[in-house]
Amino acid sequence: MPITRAAVLDKGTSIALTWRDGRSARFHAIWLRDNALDPQTRSPGNGQRLVTILDIPADTRVARAAVTTGGDLYVTFIPEGKTVSFPAAWLAEHIYDVEPERRPGWSDAVIERWDNALQARIPRATYAQVKGDRAALGRWLAAVRRFGFALMTGAPTTSGALCDIAELFGYVRETNYGRWFEVRAEVNPTNLAFTNLGLQAHTDNPYRDPIPTLQILACLENSVEGGDSIVVDGFKAAEVLQQESFGDFDLLSRHCARFEYAGARGVRLRAKRPFFELGPDGELLAVRFNNRSAAPLVDVPHDRMAAFYRAYRHLAKLIETPSLEVTFKLAPGELFIVDNTRVLHARKSFSSSGTRWLQGCYADKDGLLSTLAAIEEEMRDAA
Ligand code: FE2
Repeated sequence: MPITRAAVLDKGTSIALTWRDGRSARFHAIWLRDNALDPQTRSPGNGQRLVTILDIPADTRVARAAVTTGGDLYVTFIPEGKTVSFPAAWLAEHIYDVEPERRPGWSDAVIERWDNALQARIPRATYAQVKGDRAALGRWLAAVRRFGFALMTGAPTTSGALCDIAELFGYVRETNYGRWFEVRAEVNPTNLAFTNLGLQAHTDNPYRDPIPTLQILACLENSVEGGDSIVVDGFKAAEVLQQESFGDFDLLSRHCARFEYAGARGVRLRAKRPFFELGPDGELLAVRFNNRSAAPLVDVPHDRMAAFYRAYRHLAKLIETPSLEVTFKLAPGELFIVDNTRVLHARKSFSSSGTRWLQGCYADKDGLLSTLAAIEEEMRDAA
C-alpha cells in the first residue's frame, strides 16, 4: 500500500504519513534514524544493526520527507545530513502510533484460548505428514502456537524417538532427568509422575529458571485401565478467573510463588515466580501451576495471605472444571506436545495391571517459533 503524503511535524522531531487506504501514523525522527535500513546502519548480509544508539546524534531531526512515485518514503536526517529510504509496506508493518485498550492478562491475537469445545477439533497430524512435508509441519507448529497443544499419531515407538520430534523444529532441552525421561510406575520413584497416581493438572518444572517452554509426552505402551491424559488451557483459566474475580487474578499475578524440587541426590532446584506472569504492559506471559513442587509461600504479605489462598483455591477449582478440559488416552505411537508456559496437563490414576510406558522430553518455544516463521516465509516466497 503506497504512501500518499508525508508531513514534517514539531520542528522535524516527528513526521506524519498517510497511506492510500486512509491509514495514518506518526513516527519520531530518532525512531526512523535508529531503524534506518541502509547498509551503513544494517548489515546487508545478516540484517543486524551496525551502529549503537550512541552513534546517532541525540538531536536528530528530519529536515525533509518526500514520497517517491512508487509511494515509498525518503527522509533526510540532520545534523548527519543522511538520506535513507523506507518501503511503504515496511512502515505500515511497524506502526506504533496506536493506543490499544488492554486489560491485564491480554495476549497476542495469534493465541486462541480454548475450552472443552476443542475436544471435537483437537489439532493433530501424523508423523509421516510432518516428517515429509514442510507445509504440514508448518500447520502442526502453527497449531502449537495458536492452541499451545497438538497431538501426533503414527510416531515411532522406539525408545528415545520422541527426541526426533523435537528435532523436527528445534532442540531437546536436557535436564537432570536426562535428554528424555521414562514416565512409568517405579518402585522408589524420584518423582510422583513415576507412579500410577493421578496427577492434578500442572505445568512442568516450575522450579526451573527458565522453565522448559515445551514438553513432549510420547506413548510406547498402554494396556492399563485409566491413565487418560487431560489438558487445560491455562490462559483460558486465567480469563475465567478474571471474569469471576478480577481481585483473585490480580493477587496471583502480583505476588510470587515459590517452587522447589529436591527429590534426588545432588539436585536442589528452586524458583520464585508468580502463578500468572505478566509483562510490564499486562501481557499474560506464562502460567505456572504445580501442587507437587509448590514450596512455602513467603512473598505474600501477612494481610494478603488468606485472600491469596482463596484465589489459589479458586484457580485450582477452575482447572479441574470439566468444561475447560480436553481429554484423550494415548495409544502406542501417539504423543502430545504442550506449550509449558500456557497449557496444563494432568493424568488420571491407572490400574496396576497392564503396562503404561510413556517417555517425556523438553524443548523450547523459541526454536519452534523460529522454524514456523521460516516455513511461513518460504511459503510466502513460493506463492
Ligand atoms: Fe507433567
